[in-house]
Amino acid sequence: MSTAIDGKAILVTGANRGIGQAMVTEALRRGASRVYAGTRQPYAHPDPRVTTLALDITDEEQVRAAAAQVGSLDILVNNAGVFLFDDLTDRGALEQHLAVNLFGTYRMIQAFLPALIESGGDIINNVSVASLAPIPVTPAYSVSKAAAFSLTQSLRMLLAARGVRVHAVLTGPVDTDMVRDLDIPKTPPLSVAQGIFDGVENGEEDIFPDPMSATFADVARQVLAPETGGDHGRLGRRRLQHGDHQGVPGESRTRRRAVGGHHAHAPPPRRRPIRARARHPARLSRPARRPVRDLGRQRRIARPPELVPQPQGQPEDHR
Ligand SMILES: NC(=O)c1ccc[n+]([C@@H]2O[C@H](COP(=O)([O-])OP(=O)(O)OC[C@H]3O[C@@H](n4cnc5c(N)ncnc54)[C@H](OP(=O)(O)O)[C@@H]3O)[C@@H](O)[C@H]2O)c1
Repeated sequence: MSTAIDGKAILVTGANRGIGQAMVTEALRRGASRVYAGTRQPYAHPDPRVTTLALDITDEEQVRAAAAQVGSLDILVNNAGVFLFDDLTDRGALEQHLAVNLFGTYRMIQAFLPALIESGGDIINNVSVASLAPIPVTPAYSVSKAAAFSLTQSLRMLLAARGVRVHAVLTGPVDTDMVRDLDIPKTPPLSVAQGIFDGVENGEEDIFPDPMSATFADVARQVLAPETGGDHGRLGRRRLQHGDHQGVPGESRTRRRAVGGHHAHAPPPRRRPIRARARHPARLSRPARRPVRDLGRQRRIARPPELVPQPQGQPEDHR
């Protein structure tokens, strides 16, 4: 089932900048009736449909007050997140990532679930391709995003019976403050916001909203759901509306590329032999045995260079 954005009430966390700000802009452009912009900073928006909420997602009281203020809601966008360079030697860094990226997201879902069940709504969790393959310079972030992705998958199964759809956004590098010190190709936030809402409107469960993340989609579906031919409807919930990944009318270009199809009558994509399949994702997630700089030369298969970003300096904590 798909969800049109037009006429919907939407809440976006971390809405004052980056992808969150772009999602507010795009939601308004697609005709959302009400947009709640959750921010930790004072924030004002010129559009009368936007209501600002003081919302630190680690603050139980603020989250509860926001849920009481909002009342009815169709779409919850869990976008707020932190990203710090670390090497897993500091437990505090891991806890900080988990507090926001996992437990903050969980807290928001708990607080807004009654409203979303009432509306038969959608939850959009902005995770990351780091959920699938750790980023070497920030394993704590990767752990938190992998956990948030797992949370998303579990809730998707648990909430389906209650009429709530739960989407994971497996975002690649985006041109925001979060990764401004990484000298890698990045997608503009507005384009990512459009990719996310396209995915939701097309009923996609796992959304790959940018060109880099789309290159992961084929590998992801084979690893995550080989028993269903890689369809994202896991555990037997095969989504027939996507056919055999050959594209359906109205399906986004990203989705078609992501699921490996090109046009409605293309033959089903050839499954990779087990050896090749195992090599691809495993290599991405193994710790580097050589200096990061040499990783690109080890790869036998094409892989986007931005997976091994070279830090240009320690970014500040955006919290
Ligand atoms: N940029 C990328 O390359 C990329 C790639 C994959 C996934 N993502 C994910 O996309 C999401 C948005 O990232 P972005 O690139 O837009 O980052 P960003 O520009 O750094 O913005 C992060 C947003 O999250 C908010 N935030 C942080 N901690 C919060 C908390 N405890 N409570 C409420 N809000 C909080 C920030 O608020 P303040 O302004 O108050 O700090 C800010 O609005 C994140 O979940 C991130 O992990 C980003």
